[in-house]
Amino acid sequence: MTETTETTRTGTTGTGTGTGTGTRGTTEQELTDNVVASFDTAKDERFREVMQALVRHAHAFVRETRLTEAEWSAAIGFLTAAGHITTDTRQEFVLLSDVLGISMLTVAVNEPGLGESTESTVLGPFFVQDSPEIDLGGDIAGGAKGEPSWVAGTVKDTDGNPVPGARIEVWEADDDGMYDVQYDDGALAGRAHLFADTEGRYRFWALTPTPYPIPDDGPVGRLLQHAGRSPMRAPHLHFKVTAPGFHTLITHMFVAGDPTLDSDSVFGVKESLVRPFDRHRPGTPTPDSRQLEGPWTSARFDIVLRKE
Ligand code: BEZ
Ligand code: FE
Repeated sequence: MTETTETTRTGTTGTGTGTGTGTRGTTEQELTDNVVASFDTAKDERFREVMQALVRHAHAFVRETRLTEAEWSAAIGFLTAAGHITTDTRQEFVLLSDVLGISMLTVAVNEPGLGESTESTVLGPFFVQDSPEIDLGGDIAGGAKGEPSWVAGTVKDTDGNPVPGARIEVWEADDDGMYDVQYDDGALAGRAHLFADTEGRYRFWALTPTPYPIPDDGPVGRLLQHAGRSPMRAPHLHFKVTAPGFHTLITHMFVAGDPTLDSDSVFGVKESLVRPFDRHRPGTPTPDSRQLEGPWTSARFDIVLRKE
């Protein structure tokens, strides 16, 4: 093989033939075509479609950036580190998907928000299946530290009819910006579920949400730092609302006026989900005559579910 031929083989961006030459190819395009064609035998049509698109886009990325071998090796090192730090309660790949906006893009593709129902946003890594149940007007804090916040609203369908008995899951970080599952004590706090009443109404005590950083002591945190990006999430309360015959809603309510609304590290903020949290001085009577020593807040979040 002459030097000239070698240069042609590794440097060309020729269009290739894509004629199914097996695994042998010379040009960059032929390589891509061959890898795409290698999935032609897959019986699962959707798997074939997704894998072939993945190969086409990944190869296009390598060609566009003229990725060096050292850079690809660093990327594999990054993914390896993400794997090593991942546990049942620390999901670095969810964080990576979130900070790259892939989680929110998947939400956008699947939950287009047709203008009538409440918009969706990112689930995040801290949802827990079996949260404690509370009565209407109960407190989700369960010992978590923070300023009390009275949250109330309705669950209705897109025609304005109440959705009685809708199951409402809520979870949030404490005043130190930590979710219960980030502590070692195994206690559930700052999360609960409750059921809407016969009129679709709900109410509960929570903690006034405060901004907090996503876990940033691992590879994703280092990536954000390298990019000069903030790890902070805009203050929010998570909701997952389910009812038979309705599409499950996964969303947040965000606190109006917070400066981090414009720099949410996972791109989760939607204007329609931002609500004022009214501040009340110590001694102001609460809707349920609860005795509170300090200040508290209140907010309203009316939820609209779309039928399945
Ligand atoms: C959260 O809101 O809990 C969250 C979302 C994405 C990444 C990390 C945390
Ligand atoms: Fe959160």
